[in-house]
Order: sequence, then structure tokens, then C-alpha cells
Amino acid sequence: MTPSQPIRFYHRGKLVEIAAVTPTRTVLDWLREDAHCTGTKEGCNEGDCGACTVVVGELPERTDGAESAVPGLVLRSVNACMQFVPTLHGKALFTVEDLKGDALHPVQQAMVECHGSQCGFCTPGFVMSLWASHERHRACGTVPSRQQLADELSGNLCRCTGYRPILDAGQRMFELPAVTLDTAPIVEALRGIALGDGPRGAPQFHAPTSVDALARLFEERPDARLLAGGTDIGVWVNKQFRDLPEIIYLGDVDALKRIEARDGELRIGAAASLEAAWAALAEYVPQLTEMWLRFASPPIRHAGTMGGNVANGSPIGDAPPVLMALDAELELRRGSRVRRLPLAAFYVDYMKNRLEPGEFVQTIVVPLGAMQRQVRAYKISKRFDSDISAVGAAFALELQGGTVAEVRLAFGGMAAIVKRAEQAEAALAGQPWTRAAVDAAKAALARDFTPLSDMRASAAYRLRVAQNLLERFWLETRPVQPLPAKATRVWSPR
Ligand code: FAD
Ligand code: FES
Ligand code: FES
Repeated sequence: MTPSQPIRFYHRGKLVEIAAVTPTRTVLDWLREDAHCTGTKEGCNEGDCGACTVVVGELPERTDGAESAVPGLVLRSVNACMQFVPTLHGKALFTVEDLKGDALHPVQQAMVECHGSQCGFCTPGFVMSLWASHERHRACGTVPSRQQLADELSGNLCRCTGYRPILDAGQRMFELPAVTLDTAPIVEALRGIALGDGPRGAPQFHAPTSVDALARLFEERPDARLLAGGTDIGVWVNKQFRDLPEIIYLGDVDALKRIEARDGELRIGAAASLEAAWAALAEYVPQLTEMWLRFASPPIRHAGTMGGNVANGSPIGDAPPVLMALDAELELRRGSRVRRLPLAAFYVDYMKNRLEPGEFVQTIVVPLGAMQRQVRAYKISKRFDSDISAVGAAFALELQGGTVAEVRLAFGGMAAIVKRAEQAEAALAGQPWTRAAVDAAKAALARDFTPLSDMRASAAYRLRVAQNLLERFWLETRPVQPLPAKATRVWSPR
């Protein structure tokens, strides 16, 4: 058996080396129990509350190049309860203890001045989210609006303050004298850490660095569990106490994080973060911005991947309906074989897909042409921010002279899998885009789907809301007097 290499990362001014660790030991447990950094709190232990928010710094060339770059480093908030210790290799870990100095950091000073902390349990998490925001905006010379701050803090819950004082602090911190991170020694330390292809911290934690090495490894070990951002797997481990006998981590395969437009396609590497992938999609289709910002929270979107969302295949996953409406295809790889499959043909039954043993999602491919259609995506959930969908809907429409030339209607939460409403699409194809045609399609939706009742919504509600979303889409896109988004949105404009 190949000996495992130690895990090395930067923490509190020095390189930490961990020779051996249980592969699913969370960063939160390591911080509190081994490093005795108890500033980071445990609330829910499932990525929902933000009490455990920490910031991870990475060299830009090892990331998907998304936002958050301060000189030489990409800083991203993540939930320490959802990350396993071996994934820290080659990165820098910042916790609330890093803000200790002779004087209060502007983030802390602003929280004090604005009364942003009452019982204090959520405070270290808020402070770290604010610190990441502070560093990023200072580096770019920008100041976030109140709404941007609210979006950036949507993964942090507070039961005491009512949030207003924390948002006040988020604005106040930019009025105080700037204190920014000296990244030079950190960058130098990270450059000295080799990634290496062998197991890490334990013989059963594999971290390949190239797609070929990953493909070889997974073909040899088809029973291993692929670990991308860990935001689904972290919940299985923490809440369902599931054992993961062998893990293959995708986070060190830089080529799998690439997002590029070429040959008429947007190609999203399966290990690109949700944040980077949604940003790329929203660049082509600005109407997807709300779906992006309502997908989980920034810390989850920084760690989680779109490939993980697609492969996990939850019937209420938010990316699959959108990608399906955009005619996305998947590039699937097993060993040296690469095959393409339309996403619409990928799911076969509840949490079952067409991946063969040893095969993985390599790339999500979205035709640029499909993104030129009229596209809308709607998320129905009990809470506006950071909640799971009861129903998700994504529609794409191409009209020729007022007649439906192409239409895609994809739904999550309406069946055991995310799927297109084929009968409703058939009812619209070739028809004038009129209320009568939409009424016929709404009736057909009742034949396409027999939704379930559960704690999120009843079957009757799901069907009604799916039909109403289709009507909303028509109201927003009808040729005569289309309703502007502000007339149909329930939330204040961003
Ligand atoms: P992981 O947890 O690493 O893996 C998930 C599964 O996919 C595993 O079975 C893994 O083996 C497999 N896998 C990963 N990558 C590949 C690949 N390339 N090829 C084959 N298999 C692969 N989801 C939503 O849709 N909407 C939400 O609003 C939302 N909110 C959330 C909020 C919280 C607090 C949490 C904890 C989760 C939320 N999720 C949500 C679910 C989760 O964040 C997403 O499904 C995420 O995209 C999973 O990606 P990951 O990289 O973290 O996957
Ligand atoms: Fe709640 Fe980690 S403890 S998000
Ligand atoms: Fe008490 Fe936020 S101050 S939970």
C-alpha cells in the first residue's frame, strides 16, 4: 500500500503538518478539539447556520478563478463543519483567532459600535463572513451595497439581533481605517507545499491532481466515494453517521475546475465551485442571478460544486432543472473513455443515474445557443434565502413570429427525478404563444407529473404552483405587454 503523505496547510502564522487523521474528521472538530481554537462555534453541524464559518485561502492557479482574489490569494468563506481536514492540504485556514491583535480589527470594531452581537454565539461566523467581504472589497476598491452585504451574509443565522445591526456593522467597517491581510508570507508558504498524487493523511484518502490520474484511480477503485465540495457528503457523515471506506477527492484536479466558452459551448468543469459556475451561467443569462443567489449560501456555494449537484441527483436540486432547460449535456469519463449524454437522459429513478461503476462527471456542457432563448428559473421555498426548493422550475423559449419554435420546461420537486414536462412541451410546440396555449400546457402538466406530499409542500400545492409558474413565464415573455420582472417578483429589487 502506498504510504500516505502528511497534510500541510497554513494556520495562524505557520505551516501545520498532520501526519495521520481520520479522513472524515471535520475542520470544525480539528479546530476545536485538536488546535484548541474554540472561537469557531458548532451550531447545526450541517452547513445551515454559519456559526462555524471560516475562511480558506488558496493560490489563484489552484482555483476556478472566481471572485475573492486579494493579492496572490483567493479567499472564500466555507463552513468548517462541512469540510474534511485532508482537503486543507496546500491551503490557508483563517479563523476568528486570526483577527486578534493589539487593537480591534475594523470588522470587530464595527460590530461593537453597531451592537452587532448580543448572545455572541453567531458572532465569530458573522465576523469571518464580514472579514472575507472586507478583504475582497478593499482589494477591489469597492464598497458593497446593503443588499450585497445581505446576500454575502445569507449563510449566517442570528436569533438575537434581527440582522439590522450586523448589516450596519458591515457598512460601518468600510468607514474605519483599513487593515488588510499581508498575503506575501502566506503565498510563499503555500507555494512551498507540493500537492502530490498519493494518498493523504490516511491510506484511504486519495487526492489525484490530474484528470487522467483520477480516471485511472476510480476505474481501479469503483467502490470509492468521490468527494467534491463535501456539502452533501458532509451531511451524510455528520447526521447519518455514514462511513466512507475509501475517498477520492476531486478538489486538487485543477483541470476539472476550469470554466471556458469554446466551439459554441460553455464548458463547466465538474469540480468548479457552484459560485463560479452560477456566475458563468448568469453572465450569459442574467435572469439566472436570483437562482444563483438563492442557491444555499455563499459558504456552501464556495465549497460545493455544480458537478456534485448534478451527480448527487436530488429531485429538488436547483441546478439540474436550469441545466436541463438549457439543453445541457454531460461529458462522462471512465478510464480513457469519454461519452456524452444529454442531462435529460441522465436520471433514471430516485437518486439513480446512468453513471457506470468507475465513471464520473467530467464536464457540464451548455450550448451557447440555448442561452440566447428567453430563459427564466424560479425557486419556490419556505424561506427566501438559504433554503431547499419545494418546487424548482426552469423554462427556455424561442419564438418565431409569435409561434413557439422551441420550448423546454424542466421541473424539480415534481417527481422522483428532475425532468422535463414532455406533454406540456408538446402542447406548446408550434402553437402561438397565447394564454389559450399556456392553459392547455398547464392542463398537460397534470398528466406529466404526480407529485408527492411531504413536509415541504403538498402534492396539490406543488402542481398548482408549477402551473402558476408557467403562467408567470408567459406573462413575462408574451409578445404583447410582457410584465417587467419587478411586477412579478415578490422580493425587493437587487
Ligand atoms: P459532494 O458532497 O462532494 O458530493 C455529492 C455526491 O456527488 C456524492 O455522491 C459524490 O460522490 C458525487 N459526486 C461529486 N462530484 C462528482 C463527479 N464529478 N462525478 C460523479 N459523482 C460526483 N442544493 C441545491 O440544489 N440547492 C440548495 O439551495 C442547496 N442548499 C444547501 C444548503 C446546505 C446548508 C447544504 C449543506 C446543502 C445544500 N444543497 C443545496 C446541497 C449541496 O450543496 C449541493 O448538492 C452541492 O452542489 C453538492 O456538491 P458537492 O461538490 O458539495 O458534492
Ligand atoms: Fe452550522 Fe456549521 S455548525 S453551519
Ligand atoms: Fe445571539 Fe446572534 S447574537 S445568535
